[in-house]
Amino acid sequence: MLSTRHRTRNDVKRGTEIELDIEKFADRGKSLARRDGYVVFVAGAVPGDRVRARVFKRKKTYAEARLLEVLTPSPLRVEPRCRYFGTCGGCKWQHVAYAAQLEAKQQSVREAFVHQGGFEDVSVRPTLGAEQIYGYRNKMEFSFSADRWLTPEEIASGESFDTGFALGLHVPGNFYKVLDLHECHLPPAPCGEILNATRRFARQQGWAPWDVRRHTGFLRHLVLRQAAKTDDLMVNLVTNGYDPDRMAAYAGMLQTQFPAVTTLVNTVNTGVAQTAFGEAMHTIYGPGVIRDRIGPYTFEIAANAFFQTNTAQAERLYEVARDAAELRPSDLVYDLYCGAGTISIFVAVHVAHVVGVELVQEAVDNARANAAANGITNCTFRSGDLMRMFTPEFVRAHGRPDVLITDPPRAGMHPKVVEQIARLRPERFVYVSCNPQTQARDLRLLADHYAVEVVQPVDLFPHTHHIESVAKLRRRS
Ligand SMILES: C[S@@+](CC[C@H](N)C(=O)[O-])C[C@H]1O[C@@H](n2cnc3c(N)ncnc32)[C@H](O)[C@@H]1O
Repeated sequence: MLSTRHRTRNDVKRGTEIELDIEKFADRGKSLARRDGYVVFVAGAVPGDRVRARVFKRKKTYAEARLLEVLTPSPLRVEPRCRYFGTCGGCKWQHVAYAAQLEAKQQSVREAFVHQGGFEDVSVRPTLGAEQIYGYRNKMEFSFSADRWLTPEEIASGESFDTGFALGLHVPGNFYKVLDLHECHLPPAPCGEILNATRRFARQQGWAPWDVRRHTGFLRHLVLRQAAKTDDLMVNLVTNGYDPDRMAAYAGMLQTQFPAVTTLVNTVNTGVAQTAFGEAMHTIYGPGVIRDRIGPYTFEIAANAFFQTNTAQAERLYEVARDAAELRPSDLVYDLYCGAGTISIFVAVHVAHVVGVELVQEAVDNARANAAANGITNCTFRSGDLMRMFTPEFVRAHGRPDVLITDPPRAGMHPKVVEQIARLRPERFVYVSCNPQTQARDLRLLADHYAVEVVQPVDLFPHTHHIESVAKLRRRS
């Protein structure tokens, strides 16, 4: 005879509808429920909900089900602000109270440290939340597409839509189709107006959107960068070729309708890769860059430069990293993966010298220019791949650091970089990360040398499951 557990597992079959009580948030913003211990993930559900869902994937240890109906709503639910919520992949947690989002992020960081890092007793502080939870993004990258995705409401309306032109965001998991967005609450308000005016203008002009399958069309991306602390606003139109007449016409429209736009850039990308980077960049009007401020420092940001997308919370993040480093005036600091030198410049005034290392040459050029423009003279920036560059020779050339701050991309640090940190064993070590999973994995490799003193999550991305986390490490004696 089958045990209850097996009977229950067997009724979680592909295609069946089941009722579930949602327990908690899980990885990637999904939620988790159990049927006698067997885990079922449901996207869009909230802990405390009772839901009806249809199973679409069934594996040995877990299943995934699509949310069909919320039978009893969780008290953590709030009304989403955006009409595209549920279809757009931009922000999946608009229906969750912000305090609950912050708690879920703290929990996800803790779980990463326990499961990926093996740090059972890790101390993870409550997430530092944002004051501004809408309109906080200083950069939005919209895509043009010859393949428009219709929302369930648009389909139900019975209206006919031209599906051959869209400007907006990709629907999750779909490489081809783009949702034609007429509002977005992540950037400040003018961005939505520029988005709609650009669509109208392009359609009037008969400019073709990019067709991902055929690799044809003119319009590829619309990237908007609006500084949080200055009035600078950049429009970067990414096209499949340079056409000065078209750019002059588009510039005319912007200058008449949007005097707040301080610069227009045209990036040309003729390659097949769907990226807003390109082989050439033309400044159509204005300086071709924007300036934004973090703390007392002003940063010049080029169209393709990395800059934290939430300026106000980036300042919180850097303050946390700076405080965790317990800086002293005599310190030599290494800032690994330094981008445009923002952390280096932020901490420079407190220490003797900072050495920043970064892969992208343009970012290093920006870092040097940013340091000079802010009157900072005690930073050295080097460009190159840390995996190859971060060697004993590098340390001989630049000196042994007292403090090491690292802020790698989502993939985390290369094992060779981790090995070099283990050899160097600087007295103070702070690991900033946008991916607690890889952060915990890397720190596990260093567990013989460093204990995790405390982890501070900082929320730069309200309404998404993304989180920045700062780990303060203590060198073992
Ligand atoms: C998360 S960003 C951090 C930037 C900076 N700390 C900030 O707050 O703006 C990670 C940086 O690592 C750089 N990077 C990626 N792989 C690298 C590598 N192998 N060696 C050196 N830098 C790398 C990227 O270009 C990017 O600028």
